[in-house]
Amino acid sequence: MLDRPHPTPADPCLDPFALAKALSGVHFIGGGYVPGRNGQSFAVVNPATGIEVARAAEGDAADVDVAVQVASRAQKDWAKVPARKRGAMVHACAALLKEHQEELARLIALETGKALRTESRVEAGVVADVFEFFGGLGSELKGESVPFAPNVLSVTVREPLGVVGAIIPWNVPMLLMALKVAPALVAGNTVVVKSAEEAPLAVLRICELMNRILPPGCFNMLSGFGPECGAPLVDHPKVRKVTFTGSVETGKIVARAAANKLIPVTLELGGKSPMIVFADCDFDKTVSGALTSMRFTRQGQSCTAASRIYVERPIFDRFVSAMKDAVNRMVMGDPLDEKTDIGTIVSEGQLEKVRGFIEEGTRTAGATAHVCSAMPTDPALRKGLFIQPVIFTGLGADSRLVREEIFGPVTVMAPFDDPEAVLAEANDSEYGLAASLWTNNLKVGLDLAHRLEAGLVQINQNLVVQANLSYGGVKSSGLGKEASLEAMLEHFTHKKTIMVNMG
Ligand code: NAI
Ligand code: MG
Repeated sequence: MLDRPHPTPADPCLDPFALAKALSGVHFIGGGYVPGRNGQSFAVVNPATGIEVARAAEGDAADVDVAVQVASRAQKDWAKVPARKRGAMVHACAALLKEHQEELARLIALETGKALRTESRVEAGVVADVFEFFGGLGSELKGESVPFAPNVLSVTVREPLGVVGAIIPWNVPMLLMALKVAPALVAGNTVVVKSAEEAPLAVLRICELMNRILPPGCFNMLSGFGPECGAPLVDHPKVRKVTFTGSVETGKIVARAAANKLIPVTLELGGKSPMIVFADCDFDKTVSGALTSMRFTRQGQSCTAASRIYVERPIFDRFVSAMKDAVNRMVMGDPLDEKTDIGTIVSEGQLEKVRGFIEEGTRTAGATAHVCSAMPTDPALRKGLFIQPVIFTGLGADSRLVREEIFGPVTVMAPFDDPEAVLAEANDSEYGLAASLWTNNLKVGLDLAHRLEAGLVQINQNLVVQANLSYGGVKSSGLGKEASLEAMLEHFTHKKTIMVNMG
């Protein structure tokens, strides 16, 4: 363990560059920073400038084993702590994270390129909210009494599963981690998180902050690559549950590995979420709703992004043009600059992937690419991974841009004439994470809401995941729910039946 309890210049540290440097080269295991065993590390790059800001420890199976063994030992005592007391500790963590909100916001902006004002600060706030919410649910870990026979007392109790392995992506790493770690801990499990290679720093800092309150070994954090560090975590015999957010492809690998061990797995795997706009909607509210729905301020890097927008024909042209105007007004620039609405794509790999989609769409006969906003002009951002938002019209329903998750600032828009036809089109997707409907006719809206194949349907709004509301998809969008009380009970505990024959 390193003699470095708090990586300060100052605490909270509002200089993300200094903090990033201080967090270099380490995992967090058993209550302290631990250097990677193989001494290898990889670069953490500021995607706005292309400059390396830190090195992350390149974890492997040996690090995984140490972390899981530590978590497994800690779990025995953690499970004995009364549930409400565990909750109280998690609640106290939320308060500490609130004190560090600005620090975390800057750090996540630095490593992911998400704009501070529009995205990073918001994420840091929601993270604290998620820990606060689950911290209050300790008393809900209760069982039932079952009327079995007059002389037999039959009760159920909720027990933790053991060590939880959590694998997270880079788009909203702090929040997606919180949705896993908070319920797992309150339910009496201990956790080993494998962070995303593109964004290992802010989650590492959160782990350290929470370890100031939690007993050592309950919450551990590893950085590293998927096959070298994520896979051994899933495979480790002492990991009794895996919870994963990321791509469909990797989700299937994780699910297969979990099946080999017969352990439960929760998967959140993205989407191709439709937004359906009726002519009777509140026009201005819906245009601004489309901007938030598409998560343009997050460069569209969202699993619930409204990446297919269907608009009733009478208002289609006006809607496209109003959306273009609105996106044109958004400012692209340095993520750490308060004036910036839109930051950068997270990595070169993602940038190439998104560009590939845009080129394909642009080449498609009959399609129009409406390129919006403007590239930043600051020479310091010359190597930044910026990409202008694109609104496509005129693409057919079989286009790859309509069918596949782009995970970039690219949305496709199409007119519709008939609610049944648009419903069929919306449901004609491999995915089923989220959907939104915009209409003042709630009879039509509710009818379609019931028939849309999605885990979350919103009418006249399109919020991101919220504490207390079940969140999770159908079809290829995943298995299981997150963010709610049932999510904690169903996915982080098992129900044991105890019977006493009193003769
Ligand atoms: P990914 O699914 O490969 O990575 C997510 C996490 O899984 C990372 O921590 C990664 O290290 C880990 N991982 C990778 N291979 C693994 C393995 N064999 N065993 C265990 N863990 C493994 O996603 P990636 O490559 O970052 O992005 C690719 C695409 O996935 C994106 O373009 C986007 O379409 C989608 N995606 C969806 C997300 C969502 O929120 N549902 C989040 C991130 C990406
Ligand atoms: Mg991958």
